[in-house]
Amino acid sequence: MTTLDLLGMKQRGERIAALTAYDYLFARLVDQGGVDIVLVGDSLAQVVLGLDSTLPITVDDMIYHARAVSRGVEHALVVVDLPFLSYQVSREDALRNAGRVLKETGAAAVKLEGGSEEIADTAAALVRAGIPVMGHLGFTPQSVNTLGGFRVQGRGAEARDRLLADARRLELAGVFSVVLELVPGTLAEEVTSALQVPTIGIGAGAGCDGQVLVLPDMLGLNPGFRPRFLRQFAQLGEQAAAGIRAYVSAVRAGEYPAEEHTFV
Ligand code: KIV
Repeated sequence: MTTLDLLGMKQRGERIAALTAYDYLFARLVDQGGVDIVLVGDSLAQVVLGLDSTLPITVDDMIYHARAVSRGVEHALVVVDLPFLSYQVSREDALRNAGRVLKETGAAAVKLEGGSEEIADTAAALVRAGIPVMGHLGFTPQSVNTLGGFRVQGRGAEARDRLLADARRLELAGVFSVVLELVPGTLAEEVTSALQVPTIGIGAGAGCDGQVLVLPDMLGLNPGFRPRFLRQFAQLGEQAAAGIRAYVSAVRAGEYPAEEHTFV
């Protein structure tokens, strides 16, 4: 899967399926399940490392996990989040960090958050250097402290116009796709028809060109997190807990290992 293939999918009206992954084990399952994009999201911070926000994650953390993910993916496009302050301070930092991600992980693209002129200039510099960039608008988790929490963005005429302008600016900068997170469905539709490049929604309704979900959330491994947009497609958390309880009782009862598990 390449960024051009994704563009072709939008042009043909084929919907794009994306999921996050953070390790080899699940990356292989996600890839074999047929997704088009595997995103090594900095949601890693919360869903895998137990942190409160994505802010503490480092470039080294992302590289460590993205390497494992790349080993498990044969078909999908692997995109890696550039973490907080790895691309906002200077263009040089952004080029060095994004370059490291591609060189050291085998991933094909990076994602960055925001649509200001500075961010769009940075995205353009990365694209000129041969680094494909995915944008991310709406709720941008790295700005959680200025956005005042996990909340829908782009409500009201001014916010809507700003988001549309940011999306157009990112497209002009050369991004190959834009994630729209937590925005009203009608606004996501407007952005999707305004852009040539595909939009990938999460909490943005059905009008985007594709969808992405955070893997542990959609597999039921993060049961406390139940936002309106989320569908749990499996209940792996319950199954895993039941399996672990069964193992502990079997060991305690002396039922496992049994004869058939014993080498002779
Ligand atoms: O970090 C992440 O998982 C993301 C998705 C929510 C799009 O950015």
